[in-house]
Amino acid sequence: MPTSPGVFIAFEGGEGAGKSTQEQLLAEHLTAAGHEVVRTREPGGTPAAEAMRNIVLSPEFIGLDARSEALLFAASRGEHVARVIRPALARGAVVVCDRYLDSSVAYQGYGRDLGVERVRDLSLWATNNLLPDLTIVLDIDPVIGLTRITNPDRLEAEPIEYHARVRAAFLDIAKGDPDRYLVIDAVLPIHEIAKEIHERADLLMAVPR
Ligand code: TYD
Repeated sequence: MPTSPGVFIAFEGGEGAGKSTQEQLLAEHLTAAGHEVVRTREPGGTPAAEAMRNIVLSPEFIGLDARSEALLFAASRGEHVARVIRPALARGAVVVCDRYLDSSVAYQGYGRDLGVERVRDLSLWATNNLLPDLTIVLDIDPVIGLTRITNPDRLEAEPIEYHARVRAAFLDIAKGDPDRYLVIDAVLPIHEIAKEIHERADLLMAVPR
């Protein structure tokens, strides 16, 4: 049974998968159906979390210690959840978030080899156990995705092997819980991807809460 009146939908995937296009289309679809939609992103979403974003993504800090990186992502997530996501869910809004906890599991847990359980637990602690109702994974081969990036940030500048590990991680996470994940091939035409996402979101919205 849902525990809050709102609905929390996260988008995940590798670089250049087209998340923002699909987030925009989903937000329009849900708004047209009469829902209040809050679009937000990680890392960031509040002034303090955006300040942490600037540190953790800045190419100025290439070589940032991996544990410090994981802590910064978790810290910005805690702030974002407390000030933006939970209040929106409490008033019944649909929150559409660009990246969430699984990005930390994939990029830091798998990608940096910091331990999947540890990284997940860190974010669960930071957010007081808030998980999305649905996570949409836009799956793309990093060889294709990275060619769509023009000004790479610190994470995007990592080698292709790192991004291949991240991709495998998202697929692995999603496979374990098909009720809460939808994996879509991100090279499909935009409207086909959107149709699949909207159908799944409509099912979720129909669940009584
Ligand atoms: P962003 O510019 O928002 O990229 P994208 O359009 O790909 O979402 O940058 C976010 C970057 O931070 C992206 O490379 C993924 C990475 N990241 C992590 O490594 N861990 C995390 O917990 C989050 C939220 C993002």
